[in-house]
Amino acid sequence: MAKEKLWGGRFAQATDELVEQFNASIDVDARMYAEDIEGSRAHARMLGRQGILSDEDVAAILQGLDTVQAEIEAGDLTFSVALEDVHMNIEARLTELIGDAGKRLHTGRSRNDQVATDTRLYLRRRCDEIIAQIRRLQSVLVTLAQTHADTIMPGFTHLQTAQPVTLGHHLLAYTEMLHRDAGRFADARARMNQCPLGSAALAGTTFAIDREMTAAALGFDQPCQNSLDAVSDRDFIIELLSAAAITSVHLSRFSEELILWMSAQFGFVELPDAYCTGSSIMPQKKNPDMPELVRGKSGRIIGGLVAMLVTLKSLPLAYNKDMQEDKGAVFDALDQLQGCLAIFTAMLPGMKVHEEAMRRAAAAGFATATDLADALVRAGVPFREAHAIVGKSVAWCIEHDIELHELDATACAAIDARLQPAMVSALSVDACVRARDHVGGTAPDQVRKQVRWWKERLDEV
Ligand code: ARG
Repeated sequence: MAKEKLWGGRFAQATDELVEQFNASIDVDARMYAEDIEGSRAHARMLGRQGILSDEDVAAILQGLDTVQAEIEAGDLTFSVALEDVHMNIEARLTELIGDAGKRLHTGRSRNDQVATDTRLYLRRRCDEIIAQIRRLQSVLVTLAQTHADTIMPGFTHLQTAQPVTLGHHLLAYTEMLHRDAGRFADARARMNQCPLGSAALAGTTFAIDREMTAAALGFDQPCQNSLDAVSDRDFIIELLSAAAITSVHLSRFSEELILWMSAQFGFVELPDAYCTGSSIMPQKKNPDMPELVRGKSGRIIGGLVAMLVTLKSLPLAYNKDMQEDKGAVFDALDQLQGCLAIFTAMLPGMKVHEEAMRRAAAAGFATATDLADALVRAGVPFREAHAIVGKSVAWCIEHDIELHELDATACAAIDARLQPAMVSALSVDACVRARDHVGGTAPDQVRKQVRWWKERLDEV
């Protein structure tokens, strides 16, 4: 009945059953139970210290909260949809256990500052987990990059063979992306580390509360400085979703490459059996489902970001129930992202690299053409003319079905007097990668330098 609701005083009619279901968020927010209890402990202690609650009430509340937490963790407390959310479920159980003191806990507090506080506490922890997971994936990539500092593969632009690169260099490109991803999570975490508690419903409270005390007790840097902002913005969720979306886009690009590389047409890599699946009709199939799923999850994670941006877009201050949708979006996105990170970290060390196939592909497709142009430039030919001479050489090779380094003296002379056979015979994919020996270049020595730098860096964290 309506009177059983914690807010039922002014209601004459019972809540419609459909509304009960539709309104409830307990299925989604139950996972914040520990943060809700932590927030309540801090609030109760503060109320006690300020003389707003008696010492006996505070003691009863703290003990009661311990019991509720133990019950939840033992699986002994069944949450009720009629009690709507985790906050009211916990408060109702507390009151059942300790009576009147439980009813005093909500003094000077609202579910609006409560949910904002719980969510920040909860997401802060998830942020730390994600950053640690990203670091682990980076370590896996750095180790692989070390193994493959000398492994030559074609580098692509427009998915057309461009210039040879080292696989180590390619893997370190993702290490860089992931580093910025971790940085975005760290930035978002730092910005959201302010405590909404004490903002109450929207305007603050008439009780002489100590917001510095609760903020410090909960490990926040400071209390949020504006109560309306504290209970109504969810930009911290949008920032996390955005960091998650960007990370998932990086993983999706990597996935796309692994899928291409594992095709028979590329044949560059083979993912371990344990991370692939077969076909129910085609016995020969071994499908790269894991990278495909990771690529697919990025759509879902981006969806969460868009959902929250749109949800907040036209909301007037302060709290609106629309905001209850925030947790589903961000929890799902972070769950999915963490799954993607875990799969990649576990899968990559077992990846078989077909070095010969990579090298063969790098040597085909005239990947050394730029280096031939560079050789002409070194002999005094202006770059644009060198470009044209090499273009002509490539056309010649296509017509005669040979590679650039196979051009003989007669062919060179026929193409252009400035094209020296020595320039042509010096061409090799190894020379190509070795020559790009500067900061950020693909040379094996640079890759090894970068690997050392990353190893020190990742050991520190
Ligand atoms: N379950 C709610 C949410 O997630 C808690 C806040 C409810 N506040 C309110 N005034 N109805 O947003």
